[in-house]
Amino acid sequence: MATWSAPGKVFLFGEHAVVYGKPGIAMAIKPRVFVTVRKSKRPARAKSPYIDGCFEAMGVVGSVYINSQIPSSSGLGSSAAVTVATLSAINDEFALNKSREDIANMAFEIEKTVQKGRASPTDTTVSTYGGIVLITGSSRRRLPPQNMHLVIGDSLVSHSTAKMVEQVAELKKTNPGIVDPILDAIEGVGLAAIHHLSNPKELGRYMNMNHALLEAMGVGHPQLSRLVLASRSAGAFGAKITGAGGGGCMVALCAKPVRHRVAQAIQSCDARAIVTGLDTEGARKE
Ligand code: PMV
Repeated sequence: MATWSAPGKVFLFGEHAVVYGKPGIAMAIKPRVFVTVRKSKRPARAKSPYIDGCFEAMGVVGSVYINSQIPSSSGLGSSAAVTVATLSAINDEFALNKSREDIANMAFEIEKTVQKGRASPTDTTVSTYGGIVLITGSSRRRLPPQNMHLVIGDSLVSHSTAKMVEQVAELKKTNPGIVDPILDAIEGVGLAAIHHLSNPKELGRYMNMNHALLEAMGVGHPQLSRLVLASRSAGAFGAKITGAGGGGCMVALCAKPVRHRVAQAIQSCDARAIVTGLDTEGARKE
C-alpha cells in the first residue's frame, strides 16, 4: 500500500494569456489531495477518468482511495493534484521507477486527454514540483520561494474552464485590436511582478492590474468582483480572479495580521474563504 499527496494551485499572474504563449505565474498552495493505491487483482471501480487514465498510463491494475481537501471544479487544480498523487502512488506501490519529470509529463498528457486538449501544463507542473513556477510556452522555471499570506475566495459559482478559454478565443478573433494589446499588457504585468515577488505591497498592485485586464476580456463575474472589492476594503494588498474566471475563485494577498479579516469579508459575501500560503513541496510520500 502506498499513500502520496499533491498540492493544489493558484494563478498569481497570466491566466488566459498563458494559453497564447505569454508568461503565467502559479504557485502551489496548502490544500492537498491524498491518494492511497494498493495492488489488487481486480481493477478499481472507475472513480474518475483521471484515475482510469493513471492506471492505463502505468499499465497496472490496483485499488485506490482518495481524500481531497481541495474543492473540485473551482480552479484550484484538484484534477491535476489527483492525477499527480495517483501516478506517484502507483509508481511507488508497483516500484516502476518513474522520475518526477515522467510523472509531470504523464499527468499533463492525462489532463489533456480528459479535457480534450484544453489544458496548459501549469496545474500538473505546480502540483508535481510545488513552489512558485513561471510557465512560458513549453518552458517551466521555478522562481524563488516567498512567504506569502493568501486568502482564496471560492465564489461557489460554477464555471467551465473550457468555455471561458473558448470565449476569450472568440473575442480575440472578433476584436484582435483590443484583445491582443490586453494580452500584451498581462504579459507586461507578469514580467514586472517577477521582480517584486518579495514585496507584497507592490505585488498586490500588479495583481489588481491583472484583475482589471481579465475583467476587460470579459472573464469576470459580479460575485468575483464583490469578493475582490471586499478583500481590498478589508486591507488586502491586492486581489484578483485566479484561474479561468466566470465563477470559481479569486485570490487576495495580505499582510499576516489582516488575513482573517479578509477571510471574514469574503465569507460575509456568501463565499467560502481559505487562508493559505505557499507549499514548497510538490508530490510527497505520506
Ligand atoms: O481555472 P483553472 O485554474 O483551470 O485555470 C485556467 C487557466 C487558463 O489559463 C484559463 C487555462 C489554462 O489551461 O492555462
